[in-house]
Amino acid sequence: MCPGSYDPVTLGHVDVVARAAALYDEVVVALLHNPAKRGMFGVEERVDLLGQALAHLPNIRIEPFARVLLVDVCREVEAQAIVKGLRGDTDFAYELPMALMNRHLTGVETVFLPGDPEFAHVSSSLVKEVSGLGGDVTGLVPDAVLEALVARSGRVPEA
Ligand code: PNS
Repeated sequence: MCPGSYDPVTLGHVDVVARAAALYDEVVVALLHNPAKRGMFGVEERVDLLGQALAHLPNIRIEPFARVLLVDVCREVEAQAIVKGLRGDTDFAYELPMALMNRHLTGVETVFLPGDPEFAHVSSSLVKEVSGLGGDVTGLVPDAVLEALVARSGRVPEA
C-alpha cells in the first residue's frame, strides 16, 4: 500500500510507487483525503492525474478513501505492508511515529524506501506554491499535472 493525499501526485511519488510495484505483486495506491479540508485538486481529479501518471505500471490500482484509519484500509485490502519514501531526516522524524502507531494498532509493518535524490526537494505543497507564483515545475511533476497546474495558474505556457 502506498498511501498519500496526492494533491497532486509528483514525480517523487511516481518513483516510490514504481519501486514498490517492482517489489510487490500488487500495489494499492490509497488516496486518503479529509472531505473537511479542500485541497487544490478534487478527489476525482487527483485520481485521474494518478491514473495518467501511473498508467505504465500494470500491477497497481488507485483507490480513494475518506475519514478512515490507514490501518483499516490496509486490513480492508489485505495489504502486507505500507510503503513510504523518505527524502531525508525530516521525513523520517515525521514518519517514524506513524509507522510505530500503525504497527501498534494492527501489527502492519511500514517499509521505507530512500527517495531518489533527484526529487529530494519535491513535495506536493512546494510544487503548488512555486507553480502558483509563476515558477516552473517542469521535471518535478508528471506532464498531466504540469498541464493542470498551468491551467489553474492561468499562465500561458511558453512554446
Ligand atoms: O501525502 P501525505 O499528506 O503525507 O499523506 C499522509 C497520510 C494520508 C498517509 C496520513 O495522514 C494517514 O495515514 N492518514 C490516514 C489517517 C490515519 O490513519 N491517521 C493515523 C496515522 S498513525
